[in-house]
Amino acid sequence: MKGIILAGGAGSRLYPLTLVASKQLQPVYDKPMIYYPLTTLIEGGIRDICIISTPQDLPRFRQLLGDGSRFGLKFDYREQAKPEGIAQAFLIAESFIGSDHVTLILGDNIFYGGDTFQKAFSEFKSGAAVFGYHVHDPERYGVVAFDTSGKAVSIEEKPKSPKSNYAVPGLYIYDNAVVSIVKNLKPSARGELEITAVNVEYLRRGTLRVQRLARGFAWLDAGTSSSLHEASAYVQTIEKRAGIKIGCPEEAAFHAGFVSLAQLQQIVEEMPHCEYRAFLETEVVAEAKRLH
Ligand code: TTP
Repeated sequence: MKGIILAGGAGSRLYPLTLVASKQLQPVYDKPMIYYPLTTLIEGGIRDICIISTPQDLPRFRQLLGDGSRFGLKFDYREQAKPEGIAQAFLIAESFIGSDHVTLILGDNIFYGGDTFQKAFSEFKSGAAVFGYHVHDPERYGVVAFDTSGKAVSIEEKPKSPKSNYAVPGLYIYDNAVVSIVKNLKPSARGELEITAVNVEYLRRGTLRVQRLARGFAWLDAGTSSSLHEASAYVQTIEKRAGIKIGCPEEAAFHAGFVSLAQLQQIVEEMPHCEYRAFLETEVVAEAKRLH
């Protein structure tokens, strides 16, 4: 399974924050936003990751994340010249995907709780797997409706009259057919290659699976000033209460076995003295030594 993090877009709803740095570089409490989707992919065991952003922002992501070796990963950076739709990611990353399955995660989506995605990645064989999450404002999203047996029957992009309260969050798992599906898509009225159109095609083929995310699971998207603030507050609340970190790729890479304890120690020693380093030292490195 390959991974794509889509971290371009206009970020117009966050103006003027996004005048100089893109949305996915903004802080969500104590770390850059992209750390959260990156951690989700690492927790799912995905090591080959393509990071797509705008020509202006891509160098900053390189500066932030490097070649991936610090997390035991391999990064491939690609430009999206214009924000022509989420599904365009599969055309930009075609040679990166090769003949593999691929998971796309949006760079401003934050997921927390449970092992639903890990299971979905390991059980994935073919077709498409997406998720449904109960929200109060489904009209802002792709909306999935189910029949009485729980089977998905329709998916609509930003419908005026939503048929359900289930939005499709920004994590999509596809087999290799996704590339040819996107090649045959026409841009929508707003001039974008729509991810909902991809899901509709899988639904038409009878190979789309939609799993409803449990109530305790958190899905936050940080695209507006309010939702960015709420995401920060959420992360701060959980981290302070539990003494853990959400969205810490170094920790996730260590637990996934992508970096050894010695490598992690080396990485931590190179960090300046700060809360982030202290967490890794006491809660991850020292804890791992205690258990061995
Ligand atoms: P959106 O939040 O829908 O769009 P945006 O980031 O351009 O923001 P705004 O509406 O405020 O102008 O995009 C969802 C995610 O997908 C976000 O992380 C940006 C990314 N994206 C791209 O990278 N390229 C694209 O062409 C589109 C449409 C989105």
